[in-house]
Amino acid sequence: MTAPMIRDIALRDRVIVALDYRDPSQARALVKQCESHIGFYKVGLELFMADWFYTVDWLIERGHQVMLDLKYHDIPNTVAGAVTQAARHRIRFCTVHARDTLIGAAVQASSNTEILAVTVLTSVAATSDNVEEKVLARARRALAEGGAGIVCSGHEISRIRTELGDQPIIVTPGIRPFGCGGADDQRRVVTAGAAVAAGADHLVVGRPLTKAVDPLAVIEVMQEEIVKTVDG
Ligand code: C5P
Repeated sequence: MTAPMIRDIALRDRVIVALDYRDPSQARALVKQCESHIGFYKVGLELFMADWFYTVDWLIERGHQVMLDLKYHDIPNTVAGAVTQAARHRIRFCTVHARDTLIGAAVQASSNTEILAVTVLTSVAATSDNVEEKVLARARRALAEGGAGIVCSGHEISRIRTELGDQPIIVTPGIRPFGCGGADDQRRVVTAGAAVAAGADHLVVGRPLTKAVDPLAVIEVMQEEIVKTVDG
């Protein structure tokens, strides 16, 4: 099997820090600690429920890229409306479940925001029925509907690259750096280096940073792994 293409992405944009906090001030404190090294942040359901678009807009004003990870899953018309609202905030990525015709509806409404299709959550075990086939089928359909990329675990990246090529953006959560605690509720986990070697463009990392005593040290370990992988 040939090695996947490794896209030329700035090191500070490879890791997307998941700001999974109920308290926005804690999220902002982590950003201030990390922003010398990281320019890409994810706002998910917990923080969004706390302060709606305030942290999103604050991140963008500071010059960072934002992934809004609300994983929309509703009827196409409602998803399109929600994407239109999100796209007003200059976010880079917006996530939508890869079901029915939702990706197509989201893409129609997305203006300058890229739609990422959530395939199968990384908290689902690899042993549960046909995860890899489901990821592949959902990814194929989402891309055919115009999605910019997909969210999948490190376990499926090689297959996606082999079957669907270099074009789609692949964003991979379930990253567990060596020596950084357990997998928590994640089931399909890989290291940062393994994900990039398989062909991931961006890695989503939450608890290994939000629970770390020294998040910057963890980031440095992951970035070192990534550089080694990219440089071969
Ligand atoms: O803390 P941890 O690194 O496991 O966080 C992973 C983050 O990625 C969480 O914010 C979670 O919502 C998100 N995510 C995921 N699996 C997906 C899509 C997003 O874990 N398939």
